[in-house]
Amino acid sequence: MNNRPLTIALSKGRILDDTLPLLASAGLMPQEDLHKTRKLMVEAEGGVRFLLIRAADVATYVEHGAADMGIVGRDLLLEHRPHVLQPLDLRIGCCRLCVAGPRELVEQGEPEPGSRIRVATKYDHLTEQYYTAHGVHADIIHLYGSMELAPLVGMADRIVDLVETGGTLRANNLIEETTLFDISSRLVINPASMATRSTEIQPIIAAMTAAVNQGGQE
Ligand code: PRP
Repeated sequence: MNNRPLTIALSKGRILDDTLPLLASAGLMPQEDLHKTRKLMVEAEGGVRFLLIRAADVATYVEHGAADMGIVGRDLLLEHRPHVLQPLDLRIGCCRLCVAGPRELVEQGEPEPGSRIRVATKYDHLTEQYYTAHGVHADIIHLYGSMELAPLVGMADRIVDLVETGGTLRANNLIEETTLFDISSRLVINPASMATRSTEIQPIIAAMTAAVNQGGQE
């Protein structure tokens, strides 16, 4: 019998506001304000606890079993391919992973097969995969954020990054070239936890599925 509280990894990023009502639908209410607390582990109703970590680390905690469940963007799942179950698209954090660049470059057309370009991104594998499939040699410049700056200072010819409203691209005189993937947040589950704690996990999945479907009908 596992006495550790069921542990759910979350990130404090911009999707937290959309995540809390879905958790509440499953009766999972944190005992303090997750936006304000400096704690990294917070108790919740029902003998559950939340871990508050960087978005890019959520799948790692779940994969290693330090968290039983988590909420993570499809972009990170595609890039890092963690060994986790993905039973539910939460339909929050909706955006797309795009190639973008300066208008004058993008209007010249996509890079020719055999050509070489510099691409700034934090999605090294997906970027490499995309350009390899098109026969283009991409020199990947790995950045941790604010990718839109790289073309402006002449460090990159393209970026591969998330686009939601397009506001950041517009503000920096960049335009979209291609959408690589539609992105949203996913519920992820450690496979061993799913096997050993299904009586706790299945009702949470069921409640969150109902809440997601309810939201889609409004
Ligand atoms: C994300 C993304 C873009 C921006 C897109 O960055 O990397 O920069 O949002 O949103 P928009 O299309 O609505 O302008 P975020 O603000 O999360 O910060 P980051 O650069 O640190 O990832």
